[in-house]
Amino acid sequence: MGQVYAVTSGKGGVGKSTVAVGLAFAFTKLNKKTLLVDMDEGLRCLDLMLGADKSAVFDLSDILLGKEMGDAVYEAEHIKGLYLVPAPADTGMIDAFSFTDFAKRAAEEFDVVIFDFPAGMDFSLYTCLPKSALFLTVAVPDPVSVRDAAAVSRRLNEINCPSRLIINNFVYRLIKRRIFRNVDDIIDGSGLQLLGVIPNSEELALLSVNHSVKPRGKAMAAFLRIARRLMNESILLPNLKKI
Ligand SMILES: Nc1ncnc2c1ncn2[C@@H]1O[C@H](COP(=O)(O)OP(=O)(O)OP(=O)(O)O)[C@@H](O)[C@H]1O
Ligand SMILES: [Mg+2]
Repeated sequence: MGQVYAVTSGKGGVGKSTVAVGLAFAFTKLNKKTLLVDMDEGLRCLDLMLGADKSAVFDLSDILLGKEMGDAVYEAEHIKGLYLVPAPADTGMIDAFSFTDFAKRAAEEFDVVIFDFPAGMDFSLYTCLPKSALFLTVAVPDPVSVRDAAAVSRRLNEINCPSRLIINNFVYRLIKRRIFRNVDDIIDGSGLQLLGVIPNSEELALLSVNHSVKPRGKAMAAFLRIARRLMNESILLPNLKKI
């Protein structure tokens, strides 16, 4: 049974999809057959981020309506071991019963499955995921995002969904100048255990244009640290100045 991750946040635009793709790249580098599932019905984006908007023909609604997963999943051309299921182009296409079955089958076929959920407080599909699923709550150092991550964390706790924190868009300078709160304050404010910190980076801002992350850059190093921690390796948080 593969490991299932669900990327979530309270506030929108904090980098969930970017983190989902970056983590998927990291897992494929660690030789894990990885499936990305875009859950943002009507507002899909992972196909564009992977440069698959022209070639990914089917989407999650086709699979839920009975299309064979093997025929409907898109295999990334430029990254071996990375697969995608785009979100339905319309809303209201995901029914809980078929989605539960899909999530279970996906976890059986792939080493890692990453669900990229939309922002907000609609948790109705979260409990359809296998019990072993781990929720990755993304927050940026902005206090609004931290408070929203805390609200998500409380709600996930209530429905027995374990969750960890990923801090995205980290800029050391803004924390040093006390413009944003430091990492310890963000951890305390969110009420979540920290999994990793992703830097603000031009190459991540350009993901939808370049469809890749430099294998030896700082962003990939940050994603690899998170992927390795998720695989139970003991990886220390680096000096924040160097993230
Ligand atoms: N670490 C980063 N450094 C620079 N830019 C980033 C970073 N993370 C995300 N971005 C940029 O921030 C914007 C929002 O990112 P993204 O779409 O991943 O957020 P999201 O949380 O998935 O949004 P939504 O709530 O709409 O699903 C994008 O333009 C993306 O390129
Ligand atoms: Mg998104």
